[in-house]
Amino acid sequence: MTEVLLPTAVPHLKMKPIIKGQMRSSPPTTRAEFNPDTHLAFSDSPKVLSLADVSLPEDAGISHVACSEPFPLFSEEAIGIMRDEIFTTEVWENCLHSTEFAACQIRGHCPKYAPFMTKAWKDPKTLAIISKVAGVDLITNIDYEIGNLNFAVHGPEKDESKVGKKDDENLPVTKWHYDSYPFVCVVMMSDAREMVGGETALKNGSGEILKVRGPQMGSAVILQGRYVQHQALAALGGKERITMITSFRPRDPLIKDDSVLTSIRPISDPSELYYQWTKYRMEVLQARLQGMLTEMEDNYRSNKQTDIKRVKEVLGEQEKYLTITNSEIVEHRGPVRAWGS
Ligand SMILES: [Fe+2]
Repeated sequence: MTEVLLPTAVPHLKMKPIIKGQMRSSPPTTRAEFNPDTHLAFSDSPKVLSLADVSLPEDAGISHVACSEPFPLFSEEAIGIMRDEIFTTEVWENCLHSTEFAACQIRGHCPKYAPFMTKAWKDPKTLAIISKVAGVDLITNIDYEIGNLNFAVHGPEKDESKVGKKDDENLPVTKWHYDSYPFVCVVMMSDAREMVGGETALKNGSGEILKVRGPQMGSAVILQGRYVQHQALAALGGKERITMITSFRPRDPLIKDDSVLTSIRPISDPSELYYQWTKYRMEVLQARLQGMLTEMEDNYRSNKQTDIKRVKEVLGEQEKYLTITNSEIVEHRGPVRAWGS
């Protein structure tokens, strides 16, 4: 399937009153260090919808989890520090992207402008929580995909008149789609107590829509978005709605990794994106080939016959991986052929 993904003109952003008041012209002077003992707020594992619940086979993805219910992840203090890191003019001058998919998105601020946020996501204790909920050991994907922020800020008059109207609550803000990376974690960065809607919608086999409610401030939802078709529903009420999205991939390089860059290219600096993408893909490939080499040498030393069928199978898999790695790198800006979407 061919899909054209191009950046569109910057839409009119209705966010000046609130965001402007919070913006600082210089970065925070004292940098807080992420402390997992005080900045994490996780307690019990949330309920999850399984792949079977959305009528997908058990082995469709990399774990049985389709989507989690919201669960507390970061403390209010941690969210405050992260907000301080992103509400600076240098972040907004360097990291703002506007497309038809997301009118106002901040990307590429980690690690340079947001060291606290970067550490928060990469901390082993955070990764252990995410992995526990996701049902598979995960690590953050490339740095470009850490702490992406989506902003929706409205004039309060407009919102208040809309809250509670049923039709608006079910308004999709994205089309039905799959994500580019295996797992995403969405964290609410705003006070969402007065918000209505904002769910993630998933479909089961009989076409029935399952809605997973949106998280409160500091809480998170985990979604295996590469394999589970989903859409975001509109949220109404509240003065601003900022969500932070971080993408994950399996820690074990031997687990399948169907990451692509479909929706990523139009909102990324090509030089930075393709450096990070190629580096991670080569590291995974290197680990896989090293594993294969060790296994072959061990077998040879033990006077075992070379398992030719297996050698060809593993080599074939790596050929495919390398082909996708290369195909996802597009030299020119403009209409691009999407892989696997
Ligand atoms: Fe998505």
